[in-house]
Amino acid sequence: MTQPGYDALAAEYAAAFPSAFRSELERHAVDCFADMLASETGDTPVVIDIGCGQGHIAAHLHARGMSVLGVDPSAEMLRFARREYPGIRFLHDDADCASAPVEQCAGLIAQFSLIHVEPRRVPGILASWHRRGGPGTWVLIAMQGSDETGVHEFDHLVARAWRWHPDALSITLADTGFEEVFRMIRRPDSDHRFPEVYLVARARSNDTTSAPHRSWTPSEPIP
Ligand SMILES: C[S@@+](CC[C@H](N)C(=O)[O-])C[C@H]1O[C@@H](n2cnc3c(N)ncnc32)[C@H](O)[C@@H]1O
Repeated sequence: MTQPGYDALAAEYAAAFPSAFRSELERHAVDCFADMLASETGDTPVVIDIGCGQGHIAAHLHARGMSVLGVDPSAEMLRFARREYPGIRFLHDDADCASAPVEQCAGLIAQFSLIHVEPRRVPGILASWHRRGGPGTWVLIAMQGSDETGVHEFDHLVARAWRWHPDALSITLADTGFEEVFRMIRRPDSDHRFPEVYLVARARSNDTTSAPHRSWTPSEPIP
């Protein structure tokens, strides 16, 4: 598991994005997720930051009293993270969390990292988060979105990337055991080419009473 694009450009990325949030809206979305999670789980919930990059979001959540594990497939991004935030645990892993302890976490945050996962892999990854995290697990997924239905590859400067229509993401979450709680969509502007989606969901219990009526995989147009 490697991420050669981010390995090669880690220094440039660190200079371009030196802090956790690129906008106040982004901070509010993460804090809202953190508030909801903390209000239910109490003292020091364990959160896994998937694709943590240089660890800024992990550090923000850590400062809020959470026990955070950052995971990333880029050794270079992790090198920056470990140097900047020596008090936080970081692990070389992929979104599938083969070695990260999803079983112990109350929530997962994937901020602009699932965009780099091939869409056909995403349902399996979400299903494994659901199975291993168990009912009630919170997730926040932030990604570049699309106003067109389905999933679309786009010209990301660092690595292959796909942006999702928010309904496609929500349906995929529903198909894999999660229920959408809320979504926030930031419209494109002079600094953002695409809409940006922040979607919070929770793992349903294994009973299927609230299971979705629709089903969709990323290779098909959404209904
Ligand atoms: C745009 S950066 C976002 C970093 C951080 N989450 C943030 O919001 O500042 C994307 C990150 O996703 C990581 N990434 C790429 N492929 C991934 C994968 N398959 N699983 C998990 N993370 C991945 C990259 O190495 C990079 O650190």
